[in-house]
Parts: sequence; structure tokens; C-alpha cells
Amino acid sequence: MPQGKLTNKVAIITGSAQGMGKAIAEMFVREGADVVVSDINGKKAQLVAESIDAMCIKMDVTNAKDVEIMVKKVVERFGAIDILVNNAGIMYPTRIDDLTKEEWDRVLDVNLNGTFLCTKVVLGIMKAKKYGRIVNISSSAGRSVSTLGGAHYTASKAAILGFTRAVAKEAAPLGITVNAVCPGLIDTEMVRQECSAERINTYETSFPIPRMGTPEEVAKLVLFLVADAPYITGASIDINGGDLMI
Ligand SMILES: NC(=O)c1ccc[n+]([C@@H]2O[C@H](COP(=O)([O-])OP(=O)(O)OC[C@H]3O[C@@H](n4cnc5c(N)ncnc54)[C@H](O)[C@@H]3O)[C@@H](O)[C@H]2O)c1
Repeated sequence: MPQGKLTNKVAIITGSAQGMGKAIAEMFVREGADVVVSDINGKKAQLVAESIDAMCIKMDVTNAKDVEIMVKKVVERFGAIDILVNNAGIMYPTRIDDLTKEEWDRVLDVNLNGTFLCTKVVLGIMKAKKYGRIVNISSSAGRSVSTLGGAHYTASKAAILGFTRAVAKEAAPLGITVNAVCPGLIDTEMVRQECSAERINTYETSFPIPRMGTPEEVAKLVLFLVADAPYITGASIDINGGDLMI
């Protein structure tokens, strides 16, 4: 088999049972990586893992024990972790007047605390090898304000950007890069669930590139960051069809 860009690399992608995470997992396998499909939805994750010959782990990124067990299992099976993509995320459109503390906490817990927990435990493994690539999936919401999500979603995605910079600075001397990707409107289940086709069309025609992005386009950017970008760290990279230019 020809060498891929990720041959001999071990990659965990959280939230990879569908959407962008799934596209990233599929692309990484095509590039030769040993991939771990991890998701709170075990059944869907299993189907994806089987279809691409990847390892499957059902886990909740907000549960510290789940994260530890996942990392232990991956190291037992592959001996290392080279790449972590913190992709698991949830979004609700609730406006501030109706936003409960419970919903606020849940969104911050999955999107931000989950990213923290996975990063912390995986960094411990990467340090030993003095090599690692971490990509955090933020959003245009983190750079500006969310199109669909409420204040909790925007706050969580903005916090991921600060977290990315801080950890990038600490991890750089250890050979580990940490970057964030900020997608605009991408055609996934998350968007289709929240938005009617008519509303999607209205958004699309307002973008300089008048369509949604595809999960594969985001996967290509993530692949670039983990395979071809040793001098990029602490960056927040936009992929949004020109919807947001800053
Ligand atoms: N689709 C977009 O337009 C868009 C834009 C910007 C950013 N994002 C971000 O990209 C990431 C992927 O989004 P998507 O559109 O593919 O979403 P999606 O809803 O299609 O997929 C998200 C996956 O995360 C999993 N997940 C949710 N909570 C989890 C938890 N606690 N532990 C483990 N897994 C969990 C879900 O089961 C699902 O499989 C998210 O972080 C999202 O916020 C999406």
C-alpha cells in the first residue's frame, strides 16, 4: 500500500459518529492513520468504525473517567497517540431570556470542558514521545457570534480559542502543536436539525461563496494542520466561504 500522509500515526477524533468528525475519521484512514472513532452515540460510532476499519470507543467527553479509559485503551492497542481532534460538540439556539443554568452548563461542559479533559489526558501521552498534533474544532461563532446557536454556544466556542492559544504556548517546546479550526455553516446533521431548507438557502445566498461548506472541506483543513503544518501553532483558522472576514 502506498504511504499516506498519516501512515504510522494514531489519531483520536471525538464526536466522529457523524458530521465533520466522521469525515475527518474517513480522511485520516485514507491517509494511513490508525483511527479511533469515539462518540457518545455508541451504535452510530460502531457503524462508522466498521465501515473504515477503525477502533470504536463509546464515551462522553464530559466524563473524566471515560476520557481516561479511552486513552488507556488506545495506548494499550497502538502504543501511542499522535493526533487528537476535539470535535465533539452540541448546539442549541436558545436565546438568553429562556436559557437555563442547566442548558448553559451542558453546552459549556461538552464543548469546552470536554476539549479540556481530552487535551489534558492526551497531552500526558504525547509528551513522552515529544510529538503531537491537536486540533480543536471551534466555529465562526468563536470569532464573532453564532448564526444558529445561543450565547452559551458562542461563549464555548470563543473560550476554545483562548484555550488553544494557552496550551499551544505550553506544548510547543514539547514538539506538540495545538490549533483551532473555525468553520462557518457546514452541511451536517447539526445544521439540518436546527434549520429548515428555506432558512439554509437564505444563509447560503448571503455568503460570498454562496453555499454551505462540506464536512470533507473541513477534514482537508484539519489534515493539513496535522500532516503538513509543523510551524503553525496557536492559530485559529477560518473556513467559512467568506462569510466572516477578519
Ligand atoms: N455544522 C456546522 O455548521 C458547524 C459550524 C461550526 C462549528 N461546528 C462544530 O463542529 C463540530 C462538529 O459538528 P457537526 O456539525 O459535525 O455536529 P454533529 O451534531 O453532526 O456531530 C457531533 C457529534 O458529536 C457527538 N457528541 C455530542 N456530545 C458528545 C459528548 N458529550 N461526548 C462525545 N461525543 C459527543 C454527537 O453524538 C455527534 O456524533 C462541533 O464541535 C460543532 O460545534 C459545526
